[in-house]
Amino acid sequence: MNSVKKFFQSIRFQLTTILVVFVVVSMVFITSMVVRNVESEIFNVETKRLEVVTNQLAERYQKMYDGVAWQYDFGHLTIDEQKLYITKFLKPLFEEYFDEYRKNFPELEFGYYIPPINDEIVYMGLDQYKLDKKLTVIKYVTTKKMAEGYIFVDEPYSIIMGPVEDIKMEANKVTVYSAILAAIFILLISSMFTSKIVRINKGLKVLEQNLDFRFPSFGGEIGAIATSINSMAESLKRNIEEAQRNESLRTLGMFTAGVVHEVRNPLTSIKGFAQILEKKLQGKNEEKYVKPILRETYRLNKIVQDLLNYGRPSPLKKIKFNISTFIDEIISMGKQYAAGREIEFINNCQTEMIEADEKKCKELFLNLVINSVQSMGDKGKLIVSSARKEQFLEISIRDTGAGMDKDQLEHIFVPFYTTKAEGTGLGLAIAYRVVKEHGGKISVKSEKNKGTTFHIYLPIGDIRNEA
Ligand SMILES: Nc1ncnc2c1ncn2[C@@H]1O[C@H](COP(=O)(O)OP(=O)(O)O)[C@@H](O)[C@H]1O
Ligand SMILES: [Mg+2]
Repeated sequence: MNSVKKFFQSIRFQLTTILVVFVVVSMVFITSMVVRNVESEIFNVETKRLEVVTNQLAERYQKMYDGVAWQYDFGHLTIDEQKLYITKFLKPLFEEYFDEYRKNFPELEFGYYIPPINDEIVYMGLDQYKLDKKLTVIKYVTTKKMAEGYIFVDEPYSIIMGPVEDIKMEANKVTVYSAILAAIFILLISSMFTSKIVRINKGLKVLEQNLDFRFPSFGGEIGAIATSINSMAESLKRNIEEAQRNESLRTLGMFTAGVVHEVRNPLTSIKGFAQILEKKLQGKNEEKYVKPILRETYRLNKIVQDLLNYGRPSPLKKIKFNISTFIDEIISMGKQYAAGREIEFINNCQTEMIEADEKKCKELFLNLVINSVQSMGDKGKLIVSSARKEQFLEISIRDTGAGMDKDQLEHIFVPFYTTKAEGTGLGLAIAYRVVKEHGGKISVKSEKNKGTTFHIYLPIGDIRNEA
């Protein structure tokens, strides 16, 4: 029942019905016009023919009439004498003429007609003549009265209507064929059309389950809809991922803050005692055992510091500073980190003012620069540039390092995601958080073995006084 209703509501059915009705109505209209034209054309031709025939007949009759040298005054005869005259004398005479014409024009009927004598009409030469109007389509009567009567020629209705009926039959066939053709045509067209809609419908169902599904490109307006759905799905996916990321960051932050706090105190003691031991064992054989303890405690301390920063977000302390000078500082720290390697640092930033938390920004950019240096090995180039984008400042950090593949790119902002043996996987998570805290945006483009570019958008803030 439901599928029947669906069928009647379908575009395919509605289009087909509309087109078929349209075709039938217009064909019937055209047919009736054509039939009417043909009918009147035949009528005109036939009327002319009858006129010619009747006039010929009348002419011949006139000659015969003159030849007989009619003496009597028809009006002076009594009715019985008139009837007698007509049947006995005139009728046989005319029959000869009529027979001749009947041979030549078998489809016509000829007669001689005398106006009413005492309400009685006298017909001659036409035994089977019927007064039924429907049977006679054309009747031609001579205008000249001849021996008190008129000659007429009739053409039966069927003679005219025969061809007209044939035309009607043909036209009806054409109507039916065109309706069928139109229905097939529109069914084909609409199924091309609806098959796309059906595809969209199916695709949307798949999308409900799997946000990674994308429509293949197909042309036309429906293709444009599919493309829009694709980009909607893309941004929905991104939003969901970002929401999940934010949520996991928040939970993780709360969790790590607690643990890290507990680890920090014993770590400080270990570090303190290790330093004392180092002094005590200086120059002795056992000194080599203390060095790794210290190295590892420094590393642990760094991790603890990162985790603390990460887990215990503090309110922003915004100040105004020049981005170019700021990047200079970051770069000089990067150079220290990259000491001994052939890495070129270029600062292409404009002397642009920005209002932001400088300490957090330092952490943010240092993390990015150090990642770049780590990705480059012994040789490379790192370029930092800036560009004003309305109320944002875009700072881009481009390196010629190892680059990342798609799978890596999907995870880099997730806390603890690292591909390095000594990594914490917190650098980019912190960077991401700092950017978000500022109401900014971070994006990355990377190509394996070519290099990576991070784009950071930070709101410029209130810089009117310094501008
Ligand atoms: N500039 C870069 N070039 C190549 N890979 C990078 C770059 N920056 C980050 N990555 C990748 O992202 C991962 C996460 O970075 P991060 O959060 O800073 O953690 P960590 O540096 O401790 O590994 C890195 O392990 C590395 O795989
Ligand atoms: Mg890092």
